[in-house]
Amino acid sequence: MDKPALSLIGAGAAGRSLLLALGRLGFPLAAVSSRSSDSARRCAAECGAARVCADPAEAARAGELVIIATPDSAIATVCETVARADGFRPGQLVLHLSGALASNTLESAAGRGADTLAFHPVQTLAEPQQGAAALREAWFCLEGSATAIARGAELAAALSGRHVVIPAAGKPLYHAALCFASNYLVTLEGVAVDLLTHAGIDRTKALLPLLLPLLRGALENLQHCGIPKALTGPISRGDATTVERHLSALDTLSGTSGTLYRQLGLATLALARSRGGLPAESPSRLRECLSDPERV
Ligand SMILES: NC(=O)c1ccc[n+]([C@@H]2O[C@H](COP(=O)([O-])OP(=O)(O)OC[C@H]3O[C@@H](n4cnc5c(N)ncnc54)[C@H](OP(=O)(O)O)[C@@H]3O)[C@@H](O)[C@H]2O)c1
Repeated sequence: MDKPALSLIGAGAAGRSLLLALGRLGFPLAAVSSRSSDSARRCAAECGAARVCADPAEAARAGELVIIATPDSAIATVCETVARADGFRPGQLVLHLSGALASNTLESAAGRGADTLAFHPVQTLAEPQQGAAALREAWFCLEGSATAIARGAELAAALSGRHVVIPAAGKPLYHAALCFASNYLVTLEGVAVDLLTHAGIDRTKALLPLLLPLLRGALENLQHCGIPKALTGPISRGDATTVERHLSALDTLSGTSGTLYRQLGLATLALARSRGGLPAESPSRLRECLSDPERV
């Protein structure tokens, strides 16, 4: 693709990662603007952007591709502010990075003739150097007009990435799905580390040495066997006695681990049943003990 000049508004983890990744591919970095001048300056120095602009409209005018990478709650307001100050023009591509919001969040830019796109990287971006590397060969979820999607697909391809197109109405559910797949996985590991500590294992040994190889094994199984075949553990074997033993131990603790275990156990039971092969009497016994906190 032609390499359009980039302007970034919102110099946080995602914006800096994307700017750095595209800058390394030779995209000209025209301007950066952020809520705080410190963030904008740090980002410009790190990525090699030509200008730091206090005014987001000035930054937008400098670019052919404008990336609005503020938190979701600020995207529409920032876009309206820039549109009112004539920051957008026909021919520009204006995109945001939100997973949950559709491209109509940028309707004020569309009103000025720009193409507008929701361009969501299916990656977790905590820190720009790691984030820029993770964006190479990532997946991107695109939503917008046919023209905007074609331009977004070229941008994804420039990053050696792949893309999937989604209807606007599907975005909240799509993003909830990714929360399950990624954010809540981290939450579950946090719960597991706490439980291991209660069980008498040194906290420093719990995550890296003990759990990460297990997680990698589960990911490998997912990759090679898919869902539901990758499922292992007592529920997949129909072993209600072990599940009852877990619940008795969990219910001695304060906190939400018992409730979480029951909810996830019921979802796991549904998966195990869809795979088939459970002993005849075990699904009803498992459902009973997982459904009723008084039962164990
Ligand atoms: N991080 C991820 O893993 C990830 C992945 C995919 C998509 N996304 C999406 O990327 C977007 C940004 O997320 P993030 O994780 O990068 O958030 P973040 O680290 O909090 O960064 C957001 C940046 O926006 C700036 N900002 C806030 N309000 C602003 C305003 N009114 N005008 C200009 N700049 C403003 C903040 O600037 P200051 O620093 O100057 O205060 C902050 O640096 C969100 O739409 C998110 O859904 C994030």
